[in-house]
Amino acid sequence: MTERTSIHGQWSNRLMFILAATGSAVGLGNIWKFPYITGENGGGAFVVVYLICIAIVGVPIMMAEIMIGRRGRQSPINTMRSLAKNENAHPAWSLLGWGGVLAGFFILSYYSVIAGWALSYVFRTAVGIFNGVTADGAQNIFSDLVGDPERLLAWHTLFMVMCMAVVARGVRHGLEKAVRILMPALFVLLLVLLAYAYNTGAFQQGLEFLFTPNYTKVFFDCKVINEVESCTFNGEPVLVAMGHAFFTLSLGMGAIMVYGSYMPKQNSITSSAIIIALLDTVVALIAGMAIFPLVFANGLEPSSGPGLIFQTLPIAFGAMPGGQIFGTIFFVLLVFAAWTSGISLIEPAVAWLVENKSMSRLRASIWVGLSVWFLGLGSVFSFNVWSGEEYQLFGKTFFDLLDYLSANIMLPLGGLLIALFAGRYISRSSSVDEFNMGDGFIYKIWRLVIRRVTPVAVVIVFLNATGAIDWLLSKNLPW
Ligand code: PHE
Repeated sequence: MTERTSIHGQWSNRLMFILAATGSAVGLGNIWKFPYITGENGGGAFVVVYLICIAIVGVPIMMAEIMIGRRGRQSPINTMRSLAKNENAHPAWSLLGWGGVLAGFFILSYYSVIAGWALSYVFRTAVGIFNGVTADGAQNIFSDLVGDPERLLAWHTLFMVMCMAVVARGVRHGLEKAVRILMPALFVLLLVLLAYAYNTGAFQQGLEFLFTPNYTKVFFDCKVINEVESCTFNGEPVLVAMGHAFFTLSLGMGAIMVYGSYMPKQNSITSSAIIIALLDTVVALIAGMAIFPLVFANGLEPSSGPGLIFQTLPIAFGAMPGGQIFGTIFFVLLVFAAWTSGISLIEPAVAWLVENKSMSRLRASIWVGLSVWFLGLGSVFSFNVWSGEEYQLFGKTFFDLLDYLSANIMLPLGGLLIALFAGRYISRSSSVDEFNMGDGFIYKIWRLVIRRVTPVAVVIVFLNATGAIDWLLSKNLPW
């Protein structure tokens, strides 16, 4: 039998798969989102939960997604349909692919707006606006930018065009070449920032914030009533930590699945997944270690939200020798990191249009890109004309809502279904065959975890966040 391959092409080799998947995983999630949500959720304890989620939920689901993708060799929607058929499961499993496409649209629509901030910072840094800037100055420059819908719109549009251009050219051209050089360069510059942060005087404090867990403060809401302290469990930070584990590893929406469908058959899935998860985690932790010392050294609030890196890093670049150049390169690389993630967010939709509607990649990319661009207008306005309370729902702007819904609900839900499908519907013999590693120790562990541990963990976190577990406990049920 000849080996099945995807009509969209294949990665040249395993290294290319790892680079592309790492390109998808490492992005704004690591450098922009991780520090700011860690800041909002109290630091160390949040980081511990996030790391646990990466290990027991992230890595097994990443293996499952790559395995499913490579077995199906099509866009996630069609892969799910054909695997469901082969494994005698219900055809409704293809809905999982649809959910992923929707999540990809949602995420890219606001992701592109933030990537637009990074784009604009390339130019601001290059012309020297930040030279010698104070904390106040950096904050003002940031608020000026996000307060101006026209500028945000222009940068958002540019970023969307960049994503469409690469996706239109296909997996092999452009994409492979870009990640090869840019990812290592980004890593080196993060180390430069880390070295700078080491000398700020607040390095210790930054590390303590990041790595010393204070579980009571983060996970419990405590009130003192009549001199008695009473605490209730707050499941929200756990949900955010788990949601972020999915977000940062690009899991639960088909991005890694579609990249897996371009992976050569003989490559190892397990070691690739572990390498990708490790690289992604290291980048996030280094970003955190570089940013929090700056936050404390400049008297800023760790919980200042999505603007955190844009308000702190310029201070560092403004003060260090050669900062203008380093800063410019840094933001260029941040844009590239976002770019290699952005394209993976729409690849599942584009691949489906090419397969089912016989569109060219170019036309498919344009259609998908335009829809995402349009949805992105909501996020552009969330920071200015629609920032008022009258435009908010549950105290959240359109941007906040989209981010919350996609990262904390859609991705974990998608991941839960992927775990169930891979562990319970795909037969043992099919998955053993696809993993290419025999029915040995590692396979057995994966199967146990994906069948029993991962789904239970995701469900518990969901129940926790809705308050269901607290409610049950407070009922003093007989058991
Ligand atoms: N993992 C990317 C990041 O951390 C974002 C992303 C999420 C990409 C989901 C693809 C799918 O920036």
